[in-house]
Amino acid sequence: MPVTGSVSILKTPGGTALFEGPVKNVLEYRCVQCHNNKVSNGGLNLQNRDLVFKGDSKGPFIVPGNPEKSRIWKVIILPQTHSSAMPADGWGLNSDDLRSFLAWIERGADWPTGSKGKLQVRSYEEGE
Ligand code: HEC
Repeated sequence: MPVTGSVSILKTPGGTALFEGPVKNVLEYRCVQCHNNKVSNGGLNLQNRDLVFKGDSKGPFIVPGNPEKSRIWKVIILPQTHSSAMPADGWGLNSDDLRSFLAWIERGADWPTGSKGKLQVRSYEEGE
């Protein structure tokens, strides 16, 4: 995992700031359109925070403090040529985003409950 060595640069901000910044952005722009209350490909519904941590028979999608056990982390670091690589639109996340995700999970994957933790579908085409 080539991104691991650079995580120390992200000592600040803390987990919640990482969620409210880069992590939520990536999820909303790159993931929620295929993983939401109506369409939950692979059993993942990112609009249901509790289920993301609970997971299904194949295990949780995020295990706070443990990227290796987090199914979300496992699929975003796959090479885009891999059939299970996410996002499934053929355009991988950049290394800054991957570092933010890694740091966020390692620091406990703080994901606020309530409205701050609710994810919307967003797209670049909408001119955000
Ligand atoms: C274009 C649609 C699409 C996008 C965008 C997308 N996914 Fe997926 N995702 C899928 C499909 C389809 C599956 C089911 C694949 C399968 O079952 O082999 C899936 C499955 C998954 C799984 C389950 C893998 C497992 O452990 O079984 C995870 C985790 C996942 N996606 C995470 C993400 C994340 C994180 C993002 C954003 C970075 C994302 N996906 C973006 C379509 C998408």
